[in-house]
Amino acid sequence: MTYSLVVQHAAQVLTLAGGPGTQPLAGTDLAGWTIIENGYVACDGERIAAVGPMAALDHSRIAHTTRVIDATGRVVMPGLVECHTHLVFGGNRAHEFERKLRGESYLDILASGGGILSTVRATRAASEEQLLANALHHLDGFRRYGVTTVEAKSGYGLDRDTELRLVRVARQAGQQHAVRVVPTFLGAHVVPPEFKQAGPRAYVDFLLREVLSDLKGEAAYVDIFCEEGAFPLAESRYYLEQAHKMGFGLKIHAEQLHDLGGCEMAAELGATSVDHCDYLTPEAAGRIARLSQGRTVAVLLPLVPLFLRQEKYAPGRQFIEQGLPIALSTDFNPGSCPSKNLWLAMSVGCLKMGLTPREAIAAATLNAAWAIGLQQEVGSLEPGKRADVLVLEAGSVSEVPYWLGENPVRDVVIGGVLQ
Ligand code: NIG
Ligand code: FE
Repeated sequence: MTYSLVVQHAAQVLTLAGGPGTQPLAGTDLAGWTIIENGYVACDGERIAAVGPMAALDHSRIAHTTRVIDATGRVVMPGLVECHTHLVFGGNRAHEFERKLRGESYLDILASGGGILSTVRATRAASEEQLLANALHHLDGFRRYGVTTVEAKSGYGLDRDTELRLVRVARQAGQQHAVRVVPTFLGAHVVPPEFKQAGPRAYVDFLLREVLSDLKGEAAYVDIFCEEGAFPLAESRYYLEQAHKMGFGLKIHAEQLHDLGGCEMAAELGATSVDHCDYLTPEAAGRIARLSQGRTVAVLLPLVPLFLRQEKYAPGRQFIEQGLPIALSTDFNPGSCPSKNLWLAMSVGCLKMGLTPREAIAAATLNAAWAIGLQQEVGSLEPGKRADVLVLEAGSVSEVPYWLGENPVRDVVIGGVLQ
């Protein structure tokens, strides 16, 4: 069979292959994956057919119909996986940027009715067409950065119809765009004004009773924001336990601004990922690694403390030493990270969380795929996986997080198609 597309003569092919395969990369495996010097990647339709050194390329499978991409002097790697975004929202929060610069905190702005609640008002007021157009626009931006899979949380509706609309829009956006979209249900983002009197327990009961049953097949994961000013630990546990019983995978926003114990609680319940973790201690990280047997991924979001002027970053280096698998993501959203630059997140992950370039790259590809249950499909260059391949304007692995703030992407291949 002829190859449909071949990327050849790459200075380095970062395969991300070579880990245990049965769980997210942790410890020394996080940096121990294979790099092929002077290599190629060959695709058969939407799947990867072969990866190897140029000497092993089967030239008889290259025909005049094969699209050949020359990657001389460049790095070739898997498409980036964005495992934590709030893709679908109305408006923006540029008006709060200066309040933040004057010293108002994220939680102060939220408590005054702004923050997430300001985006909830804009999102409820937006039409479905407008929300879809916005989401497609943001997916264009992600694709320019070489992001080929995006997780997209709801959470700016906080009522039944709008929350279901956000999940639907995320799904439609993925159908209309080359970038794959994985919707997550974050109806438990904050308590909406309508439930201010009744409180968080009444609100999560409403979600469990009246929304989750309509999400079967629409969203695989349920997420909650466990934080002061959002959901307390007890309500978060109750909600996740019930959602788990209904068959959903679990995620949590926790230890972002305080240490409430949310990450450990969620890991106990079998959460696929625990996200933010800036206030998670290395000791708790070690306990999570043990009790989840290395399967719960800590999703680190280094652009968030940067943008919130928090100066407290998750101790990623210590998490790695404790055996906790980590992933990196932007957290793209209008309030705490209006950036889609996952390369910048990798650089800040190295500079502020103590990751090495190889660890940061694994965290934004294969481990990010684990964080959304797509490890069999994306995140590494291996035969049988989806052919999501990048050619970078970089000559070696260490250059990747080095060009601070740049977009190193020259070519993006998604599902075997050059974009
Ligand atoms: O992941 N922390 C809670 N939720 C989002 C921010 C949402 C917003 O501010 O609009 C986050 O940081
Ligand atoms: Fe988030």
